[in-house]
Amino acid sequence: MANVREIGIIMNGVSGRMGYRQHLVRSILAIRDQGGIELSDGSKATVKPILVGRSEEKLAELAARHDIADYTTDLDAALADPQWEIYADFLVTKARATAIRKAIAAGRAIYTEKPTAESLEEAIELAQLAKTAGVKTGVVHDKLYLPGLQKLKRLIDSGFFGRILSVRGEFGYWVFEGDWQRAQRPSWNYRTEDGGGIITDMFPHWNYVLENLFGRVRSVYAQAAVHIADRWDEKGEHYDATAEDAAYGIFELDGGITATINSSWTVRVNRDELVEFQVDGTHGSAVVGLFGCKIQPRNATPKPVWNPDVEDTHDYAADWQTVPTNDVFLNGFRQQWEEYLESYVLGTDYAFDLLAGARGVQFAEAGLASNAEGRRVAIEELSL
Ligand SMILES: NC(=O)c1ccc[n+]([C@@H]2O[C@H](COP(=O)([O-])OP(=O)(O)OC[C@H]3O[C@@H](n4cnc5c(N)ncnc54)[C@H](O)[C@@H]3O)[C@@H](O)[C@H]2O)c1
Repeated sequence: MANVREIGIIMNGVSGRMGYRQHLVRSILAIRDQGGIELSDGSKATVKPILVGRSEEKLAELAARHDIADYTTDLDAALADPQWEIYADFLVTKARATAIRKAIAAGRAIYTEKPTAESLEEAIELAQLAKTAGVKTGVVHDKLYLPGLQKLKRLIDSGFFGRILSVRGEFGYWVFEGDWQRAQRPSWNYRTEDGGGIITDMFPHWNYVLENLFGRVRSVYAQAAVHIADRWDEKGEHYDATAEDAAYGIFELDGGITATINSSWTVRVNRDELVEFQVDGTHGSAVVGLFGCKIQPRNATPKPVWNPDVEDTHDYAADWQTVPTNDVFLNGFRQQWEEYLESYVLGTDYAFDLLAGARGVQFAEAGLASNAEGRRVAIEELSL
């Protein structure tokens, strides 16, 4: 058999939404069940998870359901066992930093959900600790792997847009209050004291999307709102929503690009997808979503004339051309896991590290400060 390296991974928080569906089932078990991944040096790597959590009963059930030999409620013991090389964290944001600190102290490589911490200070502390300890780190950048955003990246790289002028993003959908219909997101998302809020949740995503596709974010203006103050939790009990459920942001990027992104859990969808970005450039425009991508080059741009006295019968939607799906796209979380594992085994540089994660937290913190102070907040370049 070819040279196969088995990598033991501590999976902490697998009973949660992200931990279970995206990281355990669609990424790590999918990689395990296909017999591992081929690396660029011709070798192979496969994965062996150990499930970690607070409820032994839940872990035992998950382990049995997915044919996983190892699980424990004792994180310290798992970290002390050298067969588990990578610590992966999908906990609620509030619980993350403490666990990552322990994992770094134990010399484990880190792979974590975003946001990496609740404050910039803590996010930088984690990045610095990892650098000093010399451990590899990775932070989820899943939106970059969405088929729609990969198509957008290809358009940018091909020079389709000419000079990019602006980016307009709309993200959101209606999250039910939880009284007459169950809420489809966890209740901690709506409590500041539990690490909730749409800025903390979504701005880290917008930061890596913007900096990897268009340019570094230089400043933030954000206006947030708690539009729905009364919500009902998983047990059907009323609670006061203290965290913002909508944020309206204007961002200045390198290269003079302006991005405006609205993020909302209190909006009803009138778009093709739950997130959409329109990019306008001198030579063409594109609208992309999770999957779709349509374009309008300057040579096919209509010439509207504003006249409120005559009904406009032009079908503007028909002016756009669909970009075909020329590639097979894997689940984005899995794609990133495979890249991280390859980088871990081969010891190559990995750009989406805890410092990149800290930039996401910095962006969110600047958004919160902008909202609190009613002003535009500049973003300083971070280094360790
Ligand atoms: N990349 C993405 O698109 C994306 C989407 C949603 C959430 N997230 C992030 O993923 C993380 C998990 O979010 P989720 O929606 O899966 O949440 P969730 O509430 O469904 O799951 C959270 C997990 O943490 C565990 N947990 C809760 N409190 C804990 C504590 N005090 N100590 C230890 N463990 C605790 C729970 O048992 C559960 O396993 C969050 O940091 C969130 O910001 C990322």
